Amino acid sequence: MENNKIIIAASMLSSDLSSLSSEASRMIENGVDWLHMDIMDGVFVPNITFGFPVLKSLRKKNQTAFIDCHLMIVDPLKWIKEFYKSGANSISFHIEACHDTEYVMKVIKKIKEYGLKVGIALKPNTPISDLSEYIEYLDYVLIMTVEPGFSGQSFMHSCVSKIKALKAKHPYLDIQVDGGINEKTFEVCVKSGANIFVSGSTLFKHNDPKNLISKLKSS
Ligand code: DX5
Ligand code: ZN
Repeated sequence: MENNKIIIAASMLSSDLSSLSSEASRMIENGVDWLHMDIMDGVFVPNITFGFPVLKSLRKKNQTAFIDCHLMIVDPLKWIKEFYKSGANSISFHIEACHDTEYVMKVIKKIKEYGLKVGIALKPNTPISDLSEYIEYLDYVLIMTVEPGFSGQSFMHSCVSKIKALKAKHPYLDIQVDGGINEKTFEVCVKSGANIFVSGSTLFKHNDPKNLISKLKSS
């Protein structure tokens, strides 16, 4: 999809949520490529974040932004149409939230039907072999480098071998990493073959995000 180009996605969960749309504009002005929305339902993960009204109002104020929705919810199939209507440009869903192959294929098909980019997300302990039958239909794979649910956690180095193995098998695949990404862990992931980087706390806490983003993008 992005042909291995480096993409920086701002995880809006770490922004000042009382000013979501201006936080999004600020990050876009600073050079991020995507806005990453972490959708949590309190069932698949022990946290609840954004729903459709929030996504819709973000879209309304930021019409040209690329909004990447990371679904950490049960039964993703049920909600794809609503995410499309609310302004998503790409959707990743967790393979652990799907009960069988047929269901996974239905979700992929539905996301594509709406013309959105599709990715499958893997929790840290889920092996990449679980993806093999779907890879050819995907625009990207999301390798979680923390347990999904919260921002501000530490990067799990045990996930790096998954990035490397996936890259070795599928050199042209776009690989997204999410969780604990900072300058150091970015370096590790880029060397291992990831090219789409989600960053929350590092980006939003940084005193010069513009400089950070341009540094990461030029590496
Ligand atoms: C975790 C989310 C991440 C998280 C990233 O479940 O998927 O996107 O918000 O935040 P940091 O960069 O702080 O780990
Ligand atoms: Zn995420």
